[in-house]
Order: sequence, then C-alpha cells, then structure tokens
Amino acid sequence: MITKLSDAEFRLDNKIAVITGAASGIGLAISKMFAEKGATICMVCLNEKEIEHAKESLPHATTVQADISKPALVSKAVEEIMAKFGRIDVLVNSAGVGDIDWAKDMPTPIWDKVISVNLSGTFYISQRIGQEMIRLGNGGKIISLASQAGIVSIDKHVAYSASKAGIISMTKSLAYEWGQYGIQVNAISPTATETPLIVGYWDVGKVHEDAIANTPAGRFCKPEEVAAAAVFLASESSNMITGTNLVIDGGYTIH
Ligand SMILES: NC(=O)c1ccc[n+]([C@@H]2O[C@H](COP(=O)([O-])OP(=O)(O)OC[C@H]3O[C@@H](n4cnc5c(N)ncnc54)[C@H](O)[C@@H]3O)[C@@H](O)[C@H]2O)c1
Repeated sequence: MITKLSDAEFRLDNKIAVITGAASGIGLAISKMFAEKGATICMVCLNEKEIEHAKESLPHATTVQADISKPALVSKAVEEIMAKFGRIDVLVNSAGVGDIDWAKDMPTPIWDKVISVNLSGTFYISQRIGQEMIRLGNGGKIISLASQAGIVSIDKHVAYSASKAGIISMTKSLAYEWGQYGIQVNAISPTATETPLIVGYWDVGKVHEDAIANTPAGRFCKPEEVAAAAVFLASESSNMITGTNLVIDGGYTIH
C-alpha cells in the first residue's frame, strides 16, 4: 500500500507479467518497460515468427504461443505459464486486430474476426487468468488495451469501435465482480499510436492530416507513452484504481 511519496516508485519487482500481442507495437514496448521495472515477462505470441521476434527482442523473457480467439488454445497457454511460474500477477491484453471498413460494406467475416479477437479473445484470457488469480488468493492486475475508437465515432471503425467499447464495459464488469478478490481491472485507450497497426490508414494523406489537426497535442502517440501508463496500472501505486479507462489521446476525444 502507498502511504508516502517515496513508496510510489512504480517498480514491478517479483511480479510475473503475461502480455498478449507482445511481439509487436504497444505489447512489445510494454514487455520491454515491464522488464526494465523488474518484472518477469511472459510474452504471448500468435505464431512461430512472432516467437522468434520476441526472443530476439527480450532474450530473458518466456514465450508462449496462442491465438487468443480460441478458448482451448488460451487454456493450454495459461496451463503452460502456470506450470512454469506457479502464479500470474499481471495480465496485459494488447493483442488486437485493426481491420476496418464502412458499416454498409463491412464483410461479415471481418466483423466476426474483429469481435472474436479483440473482444472475445480479451475475455477468454482474462477469464482464464482471473480464475487462477482467484484460486491462489493473491489478487492481481488486469490491463486491457481499448481505444479512443471505443469512446468516439471514427470513419470505418464500426467493428473495431464496438469491440473496444465492449472492452471498456467488460473492464467495469470484471472490476466489479473481482474487487473482492483483490484484483484490479483497468483499460487504456490510446489515440493513434506509431505501430504496425496504423500503417496505410492513419499515417497517410488526409486521414493523417485531419487526425493531427483534431489532436490538441498535435501528434500521434509513441508506444512507450502507452507502456508508461501500463507500468503505473501494474504497480502497487494504482491499487485504489479499478474499472477505469485511462485515455491517452493527446486530447482527441475532448471535443
Ligand atoms: N496503434 C494504435 O494506434 C492503437 C490505438 C488504440 C488502441 N490500440 C490497441 O492496442 C493494442 C496493440 O496494438 P498495436 O498497435 O501494438 O498493434 P500491432 O499490430 O503492432 O500488434 C498487435 C499484436 O496482436 C497480435 N494478435 C493479433 N491477433 C491475435 C490473435 N488472434 N491471437 C494472439 N495475438 C494476436 C498480433 O500478432 C500482434 O502481435 C491493440 O489491442 C490495438 O487495438 C492500438
């Protein structure tokens, strides 16, 4: 518990942290920053190529393969992690897909994919790891990447926005149900962040110009700026914060 300023060092020593989407973008930045802060890192990766990249990026981290939209694979991955570490203190849900289209044209398979990875996948792994946290009785922290698109409407983002608004809502439900077990559950909602996810849409032409013009900070976000918020939410300094959605948008959603 934080009782004086010097307690608030945002250290993550002795914490076992599981990060999904850990081989790329925001998830990779979070994995690196958590490691710097003393956490033991377990990187959940989609495929072999990502596992290789994760191992190159953070040689001391453990890697586990899982498609989070498949509950059986999620369970297998969590069992693997539990067999190795015996507990999980922090889960960061950073895995996600950014497929977009106008609502009138949105193909059903794309809608299904975005909802099943971003929303259902985030629930499957949160539920499975939450069960372990509850069983062990040591509390824990769950942090999920939502988005400014879960708060305001953005062209072509119908499925993505629905999935991220779902994460914001699910975060409140989990925080409400699991507070009694000492588990804090929070979301982070970044603006466009410089990762592979935004390439070809947010970073080009008029969409880019308009987005920057509509952002009081006048720029996009860096993955490390999201990682810093995740460090805070994973640390003991945030023990009284649960069910919230920390918006990191340079002011995009305030007008
Ligand atoms: N970059 C942005 O502008 C931005 C803004 C707001 C929110 N977000 C959210 O932040 C999170 C991270 O995004 P990013 O920018 O780092 O994207 P990214 O594309 O760099 O990384 C996403 C990761 O998720 C993994 N992934 C995708 N489907 C998966 C599945 N079925 N199972 C397991 N892993 C899977 C990918 O393989 C990749 O490693 C996402 O949830 C995204 O929606 C990103």
